[in-house]
Amino acid sequence: MSADLTALHRGFNATTRTHWDRYAVHRRRVTTLLLAGGNGQGRLCVLGAGNCNDLDLADAQLDDAGLAAYAEAPERELPAQLDGPYDAVASCCLLTQLIDTLVHRFGETHARFAALVQAVRLGHLRLLASLAAPGGVAVLVTDFLSSEAYPALSTLAPPVLGRALAEQVQKGNVFHGVHPGALMQALRGDAVLATRAESIETAQPLVWDIGARHYAVCAVRFRRRAEPSPA
Ligand SMILES: C[S@@+](CC[C@H](N)C(=O)[O-])C[C@H]1O[C@@H](n2cnc3c(N)ncnc32)[C@H](O)[C@@H]1O
Repeated sequence: MSADLTALHRGFNATTRTHWDRYAVHRRRVTTLLLAGGNGQGRLCVLGAGNCNDLDLADAQLDDAGLAAYAEAPERELPAQLDGPYDAVASCCLLTQLIDTLVHRFGETHARFAALVQAVRLGHLRLLASLAAPGGVAVLVTDFLSSEAYPALSTLAPPVLGRALAEQVQKGNVFHGVHPGALMQALRGDAVLATRAESIETAQPLVWDIGARHYAVCAVRFRRRAEPSPA
């Protein structure tokens, strides 16, 4: 990542460092999604950990040197190579940040922008699948709409929320590359992922309050196949 983007992300992380209480609802949801697919044991990999305000690691045994160090210094650079496989892998609203990097680097009007977005999305899904141990669980949590683009997001609650979000998704009022339908299509339609992902499930979209704005967040969970399926 370039120095200016690193500085940008450090700045974002600094503004949300004290948001532990504010993230309580979001944290409960992300943690539940992760635990529901496994037994809460084993090794965990968090992509987009930031301040770790969105995962309840209270019971985690921080005996992994990398995780302990990361918890102490959240904005530390991640190791270039992740030491998988992991029993659980979580992507915590990282995908939109990766896609945003394309916006910064190439601009939305670049002739190959859509193809680049699709490549980053697929690469991220494949990364989750490849980091998960056979039988392990992978959870992709992603923001897909901001209250800046849809101000009602700050006030809506279930049961109205679900229908309102479905309308926005249908209109295409979503961030680049994370239309929930396109995300599922990418996951289900890829030949590599077909050999690795099974038990694919989605979760109801909900709202994440980050203070300055609200985000609609959706999630998909899958299990890494124990063995590649026969061709
Ligand atoms: C939306 S935040 C997730 C919130 C975070 N889990 C928390 O509780 O603070 C996404 C995180 O991804 C990190 N990030 C952005 N680009 C990244 C990259 N290329 N590699 C690794 N992490 C990145 C950001 O620094 C940020 O902490």
